[in-house]
Order: sequence, then C-alpha cells, then structure tokens
Amino acid sequence: MASNSRGQFSSKFGFIMAAAGSAVGLGNIWGFPTQTASNGGAAFLFVYLAMVCVLAYPMLVAELTIGRYGQSNPIQSLKKVWPKGKVGAVILGITAMTVASLILSFYAIVAGWLVGAFAGSGLEILGMDAAAEWVTSFGDSRNLLLMVIFMAMTAHVVKNGVHDGIEAWSSRLMPILFILFGVLILYIFTQEGAMEGLEMYLIPDFSMITPKLLVSAMGQSFFSLSLGCATIMVYGSYLSKNVNLPKTAMQVAMVDTAVAIGAGLLILPAMFVAKHNGVEIFSATGELLSSDTLVFTVLPAMFHTMGTMGTVVSLVFFLLMMIAALTSSISMLEVPVACAIEELNQKRTTAVIWIAGVITAISAIIVFNFGALFGLVIKVTTVYGQPLLGLCWALFVGWLWSRDKVLQEIKQGYPELEKGLFWKIWPWYVRVVCPILMLMVFFA
Ligand code: TRP
Repeated sequence: MASNSRGQFSSKFGFIMAAAGSAVGLGNIWGFPTQTASNGGAAFLFVYLAMVCVLAYPMLVAELTIGRYGQSNPIQSLKKVWPKGKVGAVILGITAMTVASLILSFYAIVAGWLVGAFAGSGLEILGMDAAAEWVTSFGDSRNLLLMVIFMAMTAHVVKNGVHDGIEAWSSRLMPILFILFGVLILYIFTQEGAMEGLEMYLIPDFSMITPKLLVSAMGQSFFSLSLGCATIMVYGSYLSKNVNLPKTAMQVAMVDTAVAIGAGLLILPAMFVAKHNGVEIFSATGELLSSDTLVFTVLPAMFHTMGTMGTVVSLVFFLLMMIAALTSSISMLEVPVACAIEELNQKRTTAVIWIAGVITAISAIIVFNFGALFGLVIKVTTVYGQPLLGLCWALFVGWLWSRDKVLQEIKQGYPELEKGLFWKIWPWYVRVVCPILMLMVFFA
C-alpha cells in the first residue's frame, strides 16, 4: 500500500489495467460492433479511429492531468485548477458525480442481463431449463434481481479500495478478458459464414459517411474512453507524479481501441454465422434487425444452433462481457465514493454502502418504469452530460489553467515534454479544436 492515505495505484501496469478496464466495457463489446454493423462496416471503423485520435485521446490526457494535479476527488481537483471559481468547481464536480452515478444506474441493468445470460447458460448445462428460461427472459423481478446482484459485485470491489479493490481486480480480470476474447475469435473463425461478416467489417462503404455517422463515432469514442464524468479524473488522482501522462493515456486508448476492433472481429462474423445457421439478422430491405438487441437475441440464437458446444461458448462469452462491465462499473462508483470519503469525511465502507444503495434504488425505479426512463437516462447522460462536461474540462485545461502549470504537471513524469511533438500540438488543440468538436457533437 502506498504511504499516501488516500491510496494509489501501486504500479503502472495496475493503472493501465484499471483505466483500460474502465474504458473497455459494454461500449466496446456491444456498442461498437452494433454501430459498425449498422453504419457501413469499415467506414465506421475508420471514422471511429480518427475520432479516437483527434478528440478522445487529447481529452483523455486533459482529464487525467486535472486529476493527477489535484491528487484529490473531482470537486477538490477542479477547485485547485480554478481557484477563483470555487462555487463553479463544486457545481461541476457534483454534476460529474451525478452523471457518473446515473450512467451506473442504467449500466447495472444491462450488466444484470449479462449476469442473467451467463447464469442461463450455466443452468442449461445443469439441465435446469425452467430456471434458465426465467433468468434470460425480460421481466421486472428478473431485471431487478440481476441488477442488484451486479451492483453488489461492484460495491464489493470498490469497498476494498483503490489498491486492493480496483487495481487488484482489474489486474486479475483484464488479462482473463484478453484471453477469452482471443479464444472466442479463433473459435468463431472456424464456423461457416464467418468470412462474410469479416468482409462486411473490413471492406468500407464510404458512401455511408454522413454527418450523422461522424457524430455517432465521436459520441462512441467519448463513451468508450469513459470521458466527461470525472471517472478518468479520479483514476488520475491515484497516479504518482512520475508517470508519463501522454504515454500512459496513449496505452490506455490503444488497449481500448484494440478491444473494440477485436469485438468487431468477434461480433460481426458471429452475426453471419448466425445467419448461416438460419437466424434472421437482416430485414427484407437489408437493414440490420434488432440492432440494439444484437447481443441479447442474435448471439444467443446463434449459440443455440450450435448445440452443447454453443452453450459452453455462450457461457464463456457472457463471462467475458460481465468482466468487461464490472471493471467499468467500479470506475463509475468510485467517483461519488471518492467525493464522499474526502468531502464528508466518511469511511470508505460507509460511503460505498450508502452510495451503492442510492444508485441501486435509482436503478430499481428505472427497472419498474423501463419504457419511460431507460432510454431517457441514457440520453440525458451520454448525449448531453458527457459532451458538455467534456467541454468544461477542455475549457478548464485550455483557458482557466495557466499553460505553465499544465506544463509543470505533465513534465514531472515526462521531463523532455517541451522537446516533443505532443507539447507543440496538444495545448492549442485542447484549447480550440476539442471545444469546437464537442460543441458539434452536442448540437448534432
Ligand atoms: N467506457 C465504458 C464502456 O465502454 C463505460 C464507462 C465507464 C463510462 N466509465 C464511464 C462511460 C464513465 C461514461 C463515463 O462501456
């Protein structure tokens, strides 16, 4: 454990696993392939890669830098960057914390379905078909139970702290995720139909690049790198000063992007394997069917056509999805927890129990008013909350913070900073280009 009483990541590897764990989640394995499949395959992939470079990566460095400078929860860190605007900093810190909590409230419901799909495969192997049916069929009590189970897992990890909880679990789970991923991709390639999906994924249809696609790709990159909600800021605050921020951020962005690309290699071929096995995936007019339910309907249908082996593959697949979701949800819960520990002087366990309790209650309200609230909460948090908060961080770093202080902060882990290309481009970039891009996402 670090000498610092607030806890710290003990190694660079641990931090990268934790930050990449936050970034790699449903956004990569579900959102990215779904968007790619419905937006011109490789065309979306190219635009997405461009967005990661021109928007998400610079913003990742900005958010990390605020956090590492503050060495504190987001409210304090923002106050340190903007000493003249303490009230504004508090309001923004609380807003970010609220958005992170609300994202967790819907994320936990979807993650609960993954727990259900995983349990369903297990129960099927055990021959308990009725239970498997219940746990995989949409319903209020089933959604509630699974969400509560997932929230309990999230709370359990966060309760153990930065080093023994977040870092330890991320360092354990992420390598398992990479291995399962590799195994599944190799397996799916042995199946009939996979190549057709690969073609759709890798051969671009550039006529599909429209302003709407640019905006979707931008939003996707923002969500995927966990930007805007102070998640990355909080993780940055647990980083030691000798870490090279631009380089570490680059590694995190690369892992996240590699997993998204890998998920495409898995899901798109899987869709066509499903098609080959008689599962309908396109409508008569050639539109992707049920794009939102791809993971929960098309894939299970495909697993079913594969017999017993399919059930095992399904078990592995949903285990992988649960791991990805868990390493993301802990990063969301850590935001309000860090604030409560430091601002309200609470013990970590106390903070985790009541905050996880409140988020579970909000999540339960969504479960019981699913039609009215689920889409709404997603929209408010990811379409409005994230880009607007991201815009604020860019303005903080670009305009409110003295350039010299930013330089000193980053330089601590990167002494040759001024000599490199990064420092010639990034400060100006965060000041002007990122805000404009983010306003574009917002108004589109
Ligand atoms: N990036 C994660 C994903 O791709 C989700 C996530 C974790 C997130 N923390 C976040 C999204 C904070 C927005 C804000 O699934």
